[in-house]
Amino acid sequence: MATSQRSAVYPGSFDPLTNGHVDIIRRGAGLFDRIVVAILVNEQKTPMFTTDERVAMVREAFAGEPSVGVETFDGLLVEFAARHGASAIVRGLRAVSDFEYEFQMALMNRRLDARVETVFMMPAAEYSYISSRLVKEVVMLGGTVTGLVPEAVERRLHTRRARA
Ligand code: PNS
Repeated sequence: MATSQRSAVYPGSFDPLTNGHVDIIRRGAGLFDRIVVAILVNEQKTPMFTTDERVAMVREAFAGEPSVGVETFDGLLVEFAARHGASAIVRGLRAVSDFEYEFQMALMNRRLDARVETVFMMPAAEYSYISSRLVKEVVMLGGTVTGLVPEAVERRLHTRRARA
């Protein structure tokens, strides 16, 4: 019997990758044959890490896991998903406060391309309060984020603080 590969995209800014993201990627990798982390290139935002650095952080965290890919994109997410043959967009839901924005995006994406389904996943409760924004704030103010981000990301955050 022929089997078809199921791919998903997991889009976001990932500035930087957190253990909440890692948790969702692993859950996605358990559901899909391939999951592509899609890093948005947004000229309007000034990220802490360059696009190349954000790609490298995902590569470092998922080295040796061929079912997890990483790419950058601009333009419409549904077009990126179609180019990669992805049937689903994975998004993490941490709390009810995430829901309204996510609901709007999911329905807009469905309107743009009804072939792509949005799949929401909850991270482990221990990561439910983590955001890239808070992680950056804590490090820049001298706090520790050990256990909240991959070790390689933590090192990069401290290097960035030392240079600031
Ligand atoms: O992690 P973030 O920053 O909340 O991710 C937002 C992201 C990248 C998922 C969203 O901005 C996005 O999909 N941008 C691509 C532009 C697009 O397709 N817009 C129309 C559909 S809402």
